[in-house]
Amino acid sequence: MKFRVALIVLSDRAASGERPDACIAVMKQRLEPVYAIVRESVIADEPAELQAALIDVADSGAADFVLTSGGTGLSPRDRTPQATAAVLDYEVPGIAEAIRAESLAHTRSAMLSRALAGVRDRTLIVNLPGSPKAVGESLDIILEVVPHALELLNDRSEHP
Ligand code: MTE
Repeated sequence: MKFRVALIVLSDRAASGERPDACIAVMKQRLEPVYAIVRESVIADEPAELQAALIDVADSGAADFVLTSGGTGLSPRDRTPQATAAVLDYEVPGIAEAIRAESLAHTRSAMLSRALAGVRDRTLIVNLPGSPKAVGESLDIILEVVPHALELLNDRSEHP
């Protein structure tokens, strides 16, 4: 059975139609055909909206995995990590640490992402930065390990 993934892009400009989103296509390209994509949304950089979306997906059991993209930097509108932290049961710091550490080889600006990863109920939530390039690079770092994380969350696996 495929794991189910929900995709949420946070971007004021993409949400208002000022420019098209290019991150969902990169996520899909990396995720298909292994994952079933159950939701896709592009929302403004509004913490309340993100929190509501994360709570809805996790508490309904609609997805095993949620990827967010955008809003992890330092500008006043970048509030994805705070909104994510508010709804997590616990963090999985190693995922965010691995993305930052390995991304430094691509760009020194990787240290500016405050992205978090963690679990709410049985759903793994991972923040990614907001450029298509960063999304692809970050997924290439974590996707090898994500299925094992999802199996553990769903009691489908023993440690190897
Ligand atoms: N990580 C990777 N792998 N590749 C990138 O190009 N861009 C960085 C960083 N992480 C980047 C990256 C930049 S320039 C910023 S400002 C931060 O992510 C935050 O991006 P965000 O505000 O779009 O979330």
